[in-house]
This record gives sequence, C-alpha cells and structure tokens, in this order.
Amino acid sequence: MTTTAPVKMVLDCDTGVDDTLAILYAALHPAVELLGVGSVWGNVDLDTATRNCLHTVHLAGRPDVPVARGADRPLLQTEPVFAYHVHGDDGQGNAGTGRVLGEPVAESAAEQMIRIAREHPGEVEVVAVGPLTNVAIALAACPELPTLVRGITIMGGAALAPGNVTEVAEANIWCDPDAAAAVFNAGWTVTMVGLDVTMLTTLDDGHRERLAAGGTLGQYVAGILDHYIGYFAAASFGERRSCMHDALAVAVAAGTLVPDLAPLVRAYVSTEGRTRGQTVCDLRGMYMGFPEQEGARCRPVLRTDPAFADQVVDLLVAAGDAAVPVTPVAGTEEESA
Ligand code: BDR
Ligand code: CA
Repeated sequence: MTTTAPVKMVLDCDTGVDDTLAILYAALHPAVELLGVGSVWGNVDLDTATRNCLHTVHLAGRPDVPVARGADRPLLQTEPVFAYHVHGDDGQGNAGTGRVLGEPVAESAAEQMIRIAREHPGEVEVVAVGPLTNVAIALAACPELPTLVRGITIMGGAALAPGNVTEVAEANIWCDPDAAAAVFNAGWTVTMVGLDVTMLTTLDDGHRERLAAGGTLGQYVAGILDHYIGYFAAASFGERRSCMHDALAVAVAAGTLVPDLAPLVRAYVSTEGRTRGQTVCDLRGMYMGFPEQEGARCRPVLRTDPAFADQVVDLLVAAGDAAVPVTPVAGTEEESA
C-alpha cells in the first residue's frame, strides 16, 4: 500500500462564508497539512476576516494553526470594496457566534508565507482564495518565492465563464487586479480554480439538511449557508443554491479533487479600462487538445466533478462536533480556547 504525504499548505483567505468551508476542509482533511492561514481584505474588512479565520481554526479544533493578518486594502487603489451583501455583516451569513477566539501572530500574512516557504523549500503549496494582495506583497519582498514553493493555486478568475462582478471579472481578481497581474507574471505556474468550475459545484438546502443532522460543526455551517444561498438564489441561480468556490481550490491543491480538464496555457490579467480584472487565457488550442504553448504558465481548471460538494459535506458531518461552542454570544467578548 502506498501512502501519500499530506500537502503542506499556506492558505490565504478573505474569510466570508465559502472561505470558512475552505479553511475547515484544509484543517480537517488528512490530505492537507495546514501550516498557516493568512487573512486579507475582500469579502469583509480585514479585522472581520482575521477574526473569522481564527474562529474557524478553533471550530475545527486546530488552534495550533497560526493566523497572520494581511493587507487591509488593494495594492494601488485606495478604497477597498467589500461584499457584506453576499457574506453577511459578520462574514458568517449573520449567523456567526460573535466569539473572538485566539489572536493573530505578530508577523504579517506575507511574512508568514515567506517564512513557511523557506522552512520547507519546494514543499509548500500557496493557496490563495481572496484578493491576491498578500501574495503580491510577499513576491515583492521575496522575488524568489516561486522557486521556494511547490506551487500556487488560486480561487479566482474566469477563463470561459462570465465574471461575477463585471461581465468579465471575477471578484478576487477584480478586487486587486494589480496584485493579480504581479502574481500571474511571477514566473511560477498558477493553477487557476475559477468560475468555470466553482459556479458549477453548488450547495443547496438538501446539503444544509445533511449538515444540520450532523454534529455542531455541521449545524454551524448549515446556519452560515442560509443567507449565502439566499444571495445566490436571487443573484445567480433563480433557486436556492450557492456556489462553493474556495474549497475547490484547496481540494485541487491537495489532490482530493482531480480536474477533468486543466490545460497549461498563456494567460494575463487585464489591469485597464472596462476589462480591468479579467483573466485572459489563451484557449485557442481547445479544438485540437490544447497543444503545448511557449510561455504557458497558467493552468485554468475547466472541468471538475460537481459531486465534490458531497465530499465537503461528508467531511464536515464526519467531523462531528465543533471544538468550541457554536451558540451565539452577545457582543464580542474575549474567550480563551
Ligand atoms: C470569490 O470571491 C469571494 O467572494 C469568494 O469568497 C470567492 O473567493 C468568488 O468570486
Ligand atoms: Ca474568498
């Protein structure tokens, strides 16, 4: 019997609802060795994102995973734009516990990413599921980062699918296109888990019922998904279901979701005008099996098994109870865990 070592991972997130599922998946799945979590502005402000990252690792019974604070705004634009209407005021579908659990480490998310990469040369997968601001800051501080890591996988972009902020731009790329352009141009191969697949892997009230019938962890997730599913019912699907987004990137990086189609192609991020935030992938080879392209350094994932949603639900149900109480508390009093 062959056993595969878990994938060492640094996970960078703007923790709203789907990021919470991604952190839980990374913290609980035996195929992942989660070495650090970084917070970044995006779905919610940085303080809320950081609090949610900490809350989630505690829920998973992994308070040992360090959480580092990252950037609170995009690299060049001055004003961040958040998505509370999607993720709720608390980034937890207005169904969070209100608990403040643990504290971020002293180093920044970019510093943590670089340190962990240096400690495990060639072994660490950077998985970024929010705006790419922290990764761009890490690249500026450590231009050799691409040679130090195993790879980078992002949730972001859209190769063939429409955008979800503009006609062509996906939210994580649209939030900080200048950072995204730096990441795409850094000389590593970017595995791009974008809207082409994340919009097709959905969670509905049947999934919520299965989660709610599990332990307190499943019940918590069922609770935070209610508002999120409601948003997507109105905005995207016309019925009560939501896309899963971020957990797909973690699973692709971990090898627990193997893409059915992910060609290696040239790609760039538009930073100008009406198409700002678009990921432009050269898919002209698609009618002849994607022949090799010179300078190709992006692997857009174009097809995955939508049944992956069940894998996530199974994992969360099997985990049973959360490691901390999931009942809401009044206010945001400090708790030690
Ligand atoms: C991406 O944007 C964020 O709202 C989600 O968490 C996900 O990472 C989807 O476009
Ligand atoms: Ca995200």
